[in-house]
Amino acid sequence: MSIAYELKNAKRAVAFTGAGISAESGLGTFRGRDGLWSKYDPAAVASIESFTRDPRKFWQFAREIGWIFLTAKPNPAHIALAELEAMKLLDSVITQNVDGLHQRAGSKHVIEIHGNAGRIICTRCKTEYTTEKIVARMAQEDVPTCDRCGGSLKPDVILFGEPLPKKAFDLALRKMKSTDLLLAAGTSLEVYPAASLPEIAKKNGAKIVSIDSERTSWDDLCDYKMNGPAGEILPSIVQAIKITF
Ligand code: OAD
Repeated sequence: MSIAYELKNAKRAVAFTGAGISAESGLGTFRGRDGLWSKYDPAAVASIESFTRDPRKFWQFAREIGWIFLTAKPNPAHIALAELEAMKLLDSVITQNVDGLHQRAGSKHVIEIHGNAGRIICTRCKTEYTTEKIVARMAQEDVPTCDRCGGSLKPDVILFGEPLPKKAFDLALRKMKSTDLLLAAGTSLEVYPAASLPEIAKKNGAKIVSIDSERTSWDDLCDYKMNGPAGEILPSIVQAIKITF
């Protein structure tokens, strides 16, 4: 059996992605030798507790890492998943990423369980802004504030210690219970509760495929594991489906 065969024959395949799928778009991953968390302590710069105590620290970190996702382009891995959906071989993409690249590649059913950095929300009155709209102000103000009420603004992304968006996570859970093939790509699966999703799918009888450039701690859960860049492997699976079936 091949992954192409499994996808072609699955009743409801679902993708589950992490930072590694956007690596070939120039976005850094979190863990590993060059990961973001090897340079920054997430508890100090990216937790809700540190944000509430001192939002300046968070915004300084945000300025340092930049807003590369605003200019980044989807890579062949994102495009391959969008193609699988268009071919009716993929139900949806559940992503831990906040870069919006799946949607920009053409995926229609994307469930974002860690939010989206393209939106900025007022912590007080909940007014929503697009990041593009206020990116210039971010360079000038220590902590950008809401035009309407003066509250501190915060990107609409989940910081450590924050609950996940309920609607999105509930939907992700439902997908885990109904999928028969979970296609994971580029995730170390180190952060809960997101990391529990593949285990739930497995318990409910799904086959698990993982595409990752490295060995990961959850390889044992997988029925198929392919080591290599998602931007090469996913398009080759799409190609194999087109040629073979
Ligand atoms: P990680 O940085 O933990 O893991 C990225 C995975 O992608 C690793 O297993 C890499 O080996 C793999 N990888 C790197 N480049 C790749 C490539 N070109 N093709 C395929 N795989 C590649 O990122 P996540 O698992 O997404 O949470 O991290 C989960 C969460 O931790 C993030 O959503 C974020 C972070 O802290 C929050 O911000 C709440």
